[in-house]
Amino acid sequence: MEVAIKARQRAYAPYSNFTVGCALLLENGEIVTGNNQENAAYPSGLCAERVAIFAAGAQYPGVAVLKLAITASPKDDSFQQPVPPCGACRQSIAEYENNQDKDIELYFMGAAGKVMKAHSLRDLLPLVFDKKYL
Ligand code: THU
Repeated sequence: MEVAIKARQRAYAPYSNFTVGCALLLENGEIVTGNNQENAAYPSGLCAERVAIFAAGAQYPGVAVLKLAITASPKDDSFQQPVPPCGACRQSIAEYENNQDKDIELYFMGAAGKVMKAHSLRDLLPLVFDKKYL
């Protein structure tokens, strides 16, 4: 979470002023980060969690993700309750959890304060659509 806090400080969120940082701990000990990257064409931006999980997939393909930490709040740090990942990010993270033999532990908070933990992405996204349906 300390690394996610630093990643949040580097977010590019000039339109929403809502900044999100994400850090992943991989099985090989590496930590990969992401933050939200917005765009003048609003839907072209991407959430912090997907920036992070796609970066991990790009840089360390096949290396399991053990833990994922998220911190999110308006830029002024005013929100101090846990902020869970959006649905599209849950779907993206599920792909990686399904492809490895370990669950991903997720930790999420606001700018500070209480941290909520999920033992697996499955706990946040029951009845996930995955490759078995294709
Ligand atoms: N955002 C994330 O980075 N992660 C989420 O799970 C929800 C939302 C970003 C997208 C956008 O840049 C800003 O927060 C406001 O929605």
